[in-house]
Amino acid sequence: MSGMETSEGRQVVTLEQFIIERQADFEFASGELSHLLRDVGLASRIINREVNKAGLVDILGITGKENVHGEEVKKLDAFAHQELINALSRGGECSILASEEHDDIIPVTSATGKYVVLFDPLDGSSNIDVNVTIGTIFSVYRRTNTSKDIGDLREEVLKPGNQQVAAGYVVYGSSTMLVYTTGNGVNGFTLDPSIGEFLLSHPDMRIPERGKYYSTNQGYYHLFQDGMKQFLAHLQEEDKATGRPYSLRYIGTLVADVHRTLLYGGIFMYPATRKAPDGKLRLMYECNPMAYLIEQAGGKASDGFGRIMDIKPTELHQRVPLFIGSAGAVDTAESFLKKGPEFS
Ligand code: AHG
Repeated sequence: MSGMETSEGRQVVTLEQFIIERQADFEFASGELSHLLRDVGLASRIINREVNKAGLVDILGITGKENVHGEEVKKLDAFAHQELINALSRGGECSILASEEHDDIIPVTSATGKYVVLFDPLDGSSNIDVNVTIGTIFSVYRRTNTSKDIGDLREEVLKPGNQQVAAGYVVYGSSTMLVYTTGNGVNGFTLDPSIGEFLLSHPDMRIPERGKYYSTNQGYYHLFQDGMKQFLAHLQEEDKATGRPYSLRYIGTLVADVHRTLLYGGIFMYPATRKAPDGKLRLMYECNPMAYLIEQAGGKASDGFGRIMDIKPTELHQRVPLFIGSAGAVDTAESFLKKGPEFS
């Protein structure tokens, strides 16, 4: 892979160079997907700039509006949403967009682009005010019909995750990273703020077969299904041979929790609860793209009973339970849930 040389004589590969060189790996390559990914890279650098100065300027706070889920929309969410819309509508590669912050699909006027992009512009917004990691998630599909009818456009977006052609996330943490897949493995890029470029830092990421962390909001323990409670007890038991007990880590930002799980292995779970039988996370904006990335890295993603990416969506903002991480841990979670699907 060709790269560029820094002033210190280091060879580095930028996100743009990598995308262009990998273009040929993609079945339908015509340069448009590469362009689209570069647009996401650009939008995320702009979002990153605002995230970094969130405590300094009057961008932090609440707009007073609620999103379609009845949650407060913070200003930074609205900013990130608009930046992604701007970046993805400009290039002409996308004809339909959908955002977790908007109730309906967003047709791109007069665009005939091949792609449909769904995104969660700012995941983990409750963590913004306390300097804790937040993220952006995106999911890309190919458009299969060219009808302009709004009903057909809505149908076009409701595809199972197994039809994604690319997916990725940006994690705004102690450093900013962009991690993406186009179906040929997973690669991670760290933003070098001194030159404003994402540089290849984590080539061909693979999730460890086993990890030492589990991640879930254990505050809802009494609302969990019996199988989930038994699985937690299993993870907490001592057993040297299987590396138990696992330690608990929970950030409350899906991107950050899944990023750690990708690097260290283990399992992240946002299960069904008695009050929220479909869990909290959105299939189209959060679960499918994360499932694609983790599967591409050798892991698994399930709703507790079957593969996330095989779920046929019925609604844009549909929620599903999520169990994602090292393949063995997800299999074990499924085996517990199948034995105890009731809430008692
Ligand atoms: P939000 O963007 O509204 O803060 O939601 C974050 C999501 C997801 O990132 C995280 O995994 C989950 O909500 C945390 O929810 P709980 O607070 O219920 O644990």
